Amino acid sequence: MPKNIIIAIDGPAGSGKSTVAKLLAQKLGFIYVDTGAMYRAVTYLALQADAKVESEIVKLLKSVELRLLFEDGVIKVLANGDDITDELRSPVINDNVSFVSKIPEVREQLVLLQQNLVKYGSLVAEGRDTTTVVYPDAEIKVYMEASINERARRRYLEFEAKKENISIEQVSKNLSERDRIDSQRKVSPLKIAEDAEIIDTTEFSIDEVVEKLLKKVYDRLKV
Ligand code: DC
Repeated sequence: MPKNIIIAIDGPAGSGKSTVAKLLAQKLGFIYVDTGAMYRAVTYLALQADAKVESEIVKLLKSVELRLLFEDGVIKVLANGDDITDELRSPVINDNVSFVSKIPEVREQLVLLQQNLVKYGSLVAEGRDTTTVVYPDAEIKVYMEASINERARRRYLEFEAKKENISIEQVSKNLSERDRIDSQRKVSPLKIAEDAEIIDTTEFSIDEVVEKLLKKVYDRLKV
């Protein structure tokens, strides 16, 4: 059996990594692992259960079976069999997810779940620590970034499409705050792996980035 390949993509919110990772996974027939969706799912469950203290959130996570499904280019997140996907991208989750994702036991459990997925096939995984902590031996590592204005513009358009009432200034503030917490937290901070290729997507279209990465994958697979 050939070894399963891992492509790991990290970067801040709005850098384009989710769109790129999804397209890449579809084109390659790999499993798409949206690690941010897992942290969002725990945040949603904590808010639902009114669990505010770290120990309560950890206990809650232990009692839930979290599953990611990726079918026809669409990701679904199931908690104890319930589809909670549509609940995960709201401003209230954005405001609380950094708190939940800096809890060490939450990270420990989710990292184990993510690592376990390798046995099901080749992966394209994206998040904040996939190149550094979750899959340090990934065959391909990429760090995607873009200017704060461009990232805020992209997220704002997403909210606008969903008719969420939020200003671009609020979106930008939330992104900057999340960047700050995600990069400064003690456990698995967002950082650039030494062996990652840095791609600034401010000036590139999604298709250009996907093409670039596909070429990299094919070059690597030839070896
Ligand atoms: O990629 P995203 O915006 O869906 O991620 C939501 C939050 O989850 C982000 O603010 C930080 C956290 N996260 C993390 O700590 N580690 C990951 N591997 C992925 C996301």
